Amino acid sequence: MKVVVVGAFGTLGGAVRSELVDRGHEVVAVGRSRGDVLCDIADPAAVGRLYEQATGIDAVVCAAGDAVFAPLGELTTADMTATLRGKALSQIELVRQGVRHVAPEGSFTLVTGVLTQQPIVGGAAASAANGAVEAFVRAAAIEIAPQRVNAVSPSLLTESTESYGPFFPGVEPVPAAKVARAYVRSVEGRETGRVLSVD
Ligand SMILES: NC(=O)c1ccc[n+]([C@@H]2O[C@H](COP(=O)([O-])OP(=O)(O)OC[C@H]3O[C@@H](n4cnc5c(N)ncnc54)[C@H](OP(=O)(O)O)[C@@H]3O)[C@@H](O)[C@H]2O)c1
Repeated sequence: MKVVVVGAFGTLGGAVRSELVDRGHEVVAVGRSRGDVLCDIADPAAVGRLYEQATGIDAVVCAAGDAVFAPLGELTTADMTATLRGKALSQIELVRQGVRHVAPEGSFTLVTGVLTQQPIVGGAAASAANGAVEAFVRAAAIEIAPQRVNAVSPSLLTESTESYGPFFPGVEPVPAAKVARAYVRSVEGRETGRVLSVD
């Protein structure tokens, strides 16, 4: 399959890209600063240009999405807006515009995270954005069939424990390679409207 991987050179996206290439897929790597196509998915016009450049797509997978972490009392309106735009609206836009460009039985795989179900102090904006993505996945699935849409919800990545571990007390980390296999399940399987938790 021809698969667009957004965030293809990130911690998670690198593992997803490798797994898809190993399985024989043709990967179109997308990032803001590096990739076959440069695109900031938080900019709807840029998403439109991405779909003009990447044609004949069977699947779009996303391993990108910025969120602001700060105690609720310190989060500004701009922080909340940036997080919803960076993590939720960006991914929703990939699907909203993508349905016209992806193959009739193609798929979208978005990313959320453990914070939807297991909140941490300072993670309210990210939790809200993840929840929005998961609700959108369930809603979009019933409208876009036979195209499919799922979300992968990883726990803290093993590769990120040095940076983020102290903020996730007691959370069991998961290797990015294991999370990448959930993306494969979404791309190659027939499930839709699902949140594939990996912990
Ligand atoms: N790391 C974890 O433990 C963990 C756990 C659960 C969920 N997640 C979620 O998984 C996703 C990836 O996390 P990560 O740790 O792999 O992040 P990362 O290492 O920072 O990588 C993110 C990648 O996505 C790209 N990117 C970010 N925003 C983008 C945008 N608006 N448009 C296009 N590309 C964009 C970045 O490209 P540039 O560098 O070129 O900007 C970067 O290559 C995030 O949504 C995160 O919330 C992560």
